[in-house]
Amino acid sequence: MCGIVGYIGDRNILEVLLGGLTHLEYRGYDSAGVTFIKNDNIELIKRKGRVDELKAAVKEAGFQIYGEGDPDITVGMGHTRWATHGVPSDVNSHPHLSMDKKICVVHNGIIENYSELRKFLTRKGYTFVSDTDTEVAAQLIEYYYEQEDCGDVFKAVCSALKDIIGSYALVVLCSDYPDRLICAKKDNPIVVGIGKNENFVASDVTALIEYTRDVLYLEDNSILIMKKDSIEVYDVHGDPVEYKISHVDWSADAAQKGGYEHYMMKEMFEEPAAFEATVNPRIKDGDILLEHFPIDGKFLEGIDKVNFVACGTAYHAGCVGKYLIEKLCRIPVICGVASEFIYSDPLVDSRTLTIVVSQSGETIDTLNAMREAQSRGSKTLAIVNVIGSTIAREADYVLYTAAGPEISVASTKAYTTQLGCVYLIALKIAHILGKIDDQAYVRYQEELKAIPGKLNRILAKQNEIQKFATQHFNAESIFFIGRGLDYYLSMEASLKLKEISYIHSEAYPGGELKHGTIALIEEGTLVVCPITQDNLAHKMISNITEVKSRGATVLSIIPERFDSMEPASDVRFTIPDCDELMTPILGVLPCQLFAYYMAVNKGCDVDKPRNLAKSVTVE
Ligand code: AGP
Repeated sequence: MCGIVGYIGDRNILEVLLGGLTHLEYRGYDSAGVTFIKNDNIELIKRKGRVDELKAAVKEAGFQIYGEGDPDITVGMGHTRWATHGVPSDVNSHPHLSMDKKICVVHNGIIENYSELRKFLTRKGYTFVSDTDTEVAAQLIEYYYEQEDCGDVFKAVCSALKDIIGSYALVVLCSDYPDRLICAKKDNPIVVGIGKNENFVASDVTALIEYTRDVLYLEDNSILIMKKDSIEVYDVHGDPVEYKISHVDWSADAAQKGGYEHYMMKEMFEEPAAFEATVNPRIKDGDILLEHFPIDGKFLEGIDKVNFVACGTAYHAGCVGKYLIEKLCRIPVICGVASEFIYSDPLVDSRTLTIVVSQSGETIDTLNAMREAQSRGSKTLAIVNVIGSTIAREADYVLYTAAGPEISVASTKAYTTQLGCVYLIALKIAHILGKIDDQAYVRYQEELKAIPGKLNRILAKQNEIQKFATQHFNAESIFFIGRGLDYYLSMEASLKLKEISYIHSEAYPGGELKHGTIALIEEGTLVVCPITQDNLAHKMISNITEVKSRGATVLSIIPERFDSMEPASDVRFTIPDCDELMTPILGVLPCQLFAYYMAVNKGCDVDKPRNLAKSVTVE
């Protein structure tokens, strides 16, 4: 949530900053700004709106974005915002400058005690121009910097952090120190890119990988001094700490659009390869090997419950996980949205395995839920896409999805790969516990290996979904109904549609509709029904008949083998046959395509839907 980029080195600083912000725009996009030091003065340019508007303002101010940089500019940083405190506006945009224009900051996160700090600083004579919590940080650092016994920007940042309650990824520029940036982290990601005679800082690696893949993920409560040729990391007391440099495998190309009109479309087309890269290397000689997760009979003797926590789409992957583990392993599973979990006095203890699912590995609600589970003695296994992210680092065990960078706010390939991990875990546990025999174990593995080819077959028929969406994109309200696993699929399908097309939508269990919500079905209401479970198909056909007799238009999503037995719906989209337990992996793709084409037809900004951000690092 919000994107930060900072650079010190000999490249054209504005090109690095504005290029980085373009890559980070998916994290927040209501306003953007850059700041840099030129001839010992802090220059600041910021605008409400997208990064393109900021670029125009930078050009208008006479600075060159491409080609040779201005040698007088030594260091700079930029920010793209997702508003928390204060409406999106030029003045509320980051960076924020202190009153004497000595200190400039960009910030992700929330300063919870900002109004107390603001009152304190007002009493000391500071005046404020914005409504943001971030401006308080700039003024507070300046306040400490100007104390007689200070005179050192690093010390001033340390002092200010002692007063600040909340979460932050903070990058600080001081006009008296044109050779450095100071960065501080608590509960919001900061990654440092290590170059030769140049260094980078950003809120995620996509802004850096064009230049370097050697990175340092800053730990919570650490403070970094970044110069052109050195980095030093300290704890909050100002004592030096050791750090580890990691290597990122993602290529710069993987983070670009590669000829597709939208990242979302590119990412849906990457689902077969991403699923294969996540699942296949973990299947060897008839067994499932989960590296870094030492699961065996002894480990499972210590477990009597599984607990999934996650948010949004990742939560839906958890719901599928709950179904699978209960069905295949006969272990009780709880699954809750992370933001509720921490306040629910959960029944989680040292005999619980908590599985945390997150694409970014930085979602604050999920991170807090994981910490809550850990504080109750639960072992934690994280399914995460971003290597080295906070959740990945803090979990006891981690299983990475191999989705590669997911840029579109709407999660697609990350979800499919999360499902891949969830299936691997469920099958592994079921086999260790003797709930499935060797033969079934291997058969399920073969089913998983066949999924990528089947996803490709769905992608090859995307025009069927496109045609249906073109006929129906004016729908005001769309219902998704399903039973069993298809209900979880419906929840994810409905979220995707709402998120990017802004069409009101609800997901309901097929049997529950008649207990109230069916009152909303009227002539022309669109109802989408995934029907993939053999034992529930007839019940669903009855539900379709019920909504159709009230005027609904029905699109069903069914496996090929149901094609002749499902006459009730208006339009059918068939997915390849597979074991019915695996159908959520195939069934979600037509739903994602449907959401995409509905949004495109409506002229929505598919990759950057309104009010949303990719990585939600505020509670
Ligand atoms: C997905 O389309 C959403 N943008 C959102 O629900 C997302 O899945 C959720 O915020 C969790 O994010 P995470 O996977 O990075 O933790």
